[in-house]
Amino acid sequence: PPARLVDRQGRIARDLRVSVTDRCNLRCRYCMPAEGLPWLAKPEMLTDDELVRLVGIFVGLGVRQVRLTGGEPMLRRSLTDVVARIAALTPRPGIAMTTNGIGLDRLAAPLAAAGLDRVNVSLDTVDREEFADLTRRDRLHDVEAGLRAASEAGLTPVKVNAVAMRGVNDESVADLLAWCLERGYELRFIEQMPLDAEHGWDASQMVPSEEIRARIEERFSLTPLPAADRGSAPAERFLVDGGPATVGIVASVTAPFCGACDRTRLTADGQVRNCLFSRRETDLRGPMRDGADDAELAALITGEMWRKAPGHGIGTPEFVQPDRPMSAIGG
Ligand code: GTP
Ligand code: 5AD
Ligand code: SF4
Repeated sequence: PPARLVDRQGRIARDLRVSVTDRCNLRCRYCMPAEGLPWLAKPEMLTDDELVRLVGIFVGLGVRQVRLTGGEPMLRRSLTDVVARIAALTPRPGIAMTTNGIGLDRLAAPLAAAGLDRVNVSLDTVDREEFADLTRRDRLHDVEAGLRAASEAGLTPVKVNAVAMRGVNDESVADLLAWCLERGYELRFIEQMPLDAEHGWDASQMVPSEEIRARIEERFSLTPLPAADRGSAPAERFLVDGGPATVGIVASVTAPFCGACDRTRLTADGQVRNCLFSRRETDLRGPMRDGADDAELAALITGEMWRKAPGHGIGTPEFVQPDRPMSAIGG
């Protein structure tokens, strides 16, 4: 394979998602059990030097957007420093973060100063009791403060991600949209994917995009934005009541966008994953610690990308959920 991140289908990866920790301070029911998960031990995790070096190699292979994820990325104490070091790479990639927002009230300004461009904040409900029940932590207030701080720090457009769940928040999607519109956040609803730690996903529990759309249309009019403007973005977007505000729906299950995929992933323990649903990974940490040079590591990365499957295959008889849960892949 050539020395850029291309696969057999001809897709080129320009977007790197880096999980900087597998830990989280919430316990969302659709993600992990109350007691948490067996976290990675410190020696298994990439150090800052190792992480920044690998991101630099990805940038050398054509990556232009880096998204920091987790677990909850702000639980990595050195995060601000990591952002500054990624921002110093040449060419400087765009830098975004996907977070649950807890602690963002304090960190938004320093992260923006270090070079973070924007944030996506996961928030499934703005009802305090529903939030506490779903995440098993009574911290809606912290998330709200984090969102405000992100706007003030210019980490814009501030996006809100909501996983739609039957019997949990499916009846209140329009309320969440109204709440985001008032505050200037760009809301995206997400179809739930089979990536929970307990392997309990069930197609009938997933709220399909058409149903989300119909619920929103009980209160707002939606005008689809031209498909040609979407590029490789996972969300299909709509103007709300004629615009300029928009709402998005990430229909990974009912309308997969794998054909346009431009993503690659690096886990907190230094494995490159060519797909969210990949059942294999290539280890970079071991070879790096054994002295591999940048060219050798780049060859391991391009080799893994070359093997990327055409699509996730959810709903087909061959589909098998990956062993690594969402919280250790980074979404
Ligand atoms: P933007 O650049 O702001 O559009 O971010 P994003 O939507 O790519 O990333 P974010 O972390 O906010 O993810 C939103 C939802 O899209 C989550 O449920 C992710 O798991 C899902 N998602 C992100 N990338 C992929 C992907 O490559 N494949 C699939 N199937 N889902 C993805
Ligand atoms: N399916 C779809 N999205 C999920 N997220 C977490 N678990 C799932 C799932 N099973 C969302 C988070 C976060 C983003 C990275 O992915 O809420 O917004
Ligand atoms: Fe890309 Fe895999 Fe996501 Fe499809 S499921 S869009 S191939 S990462």
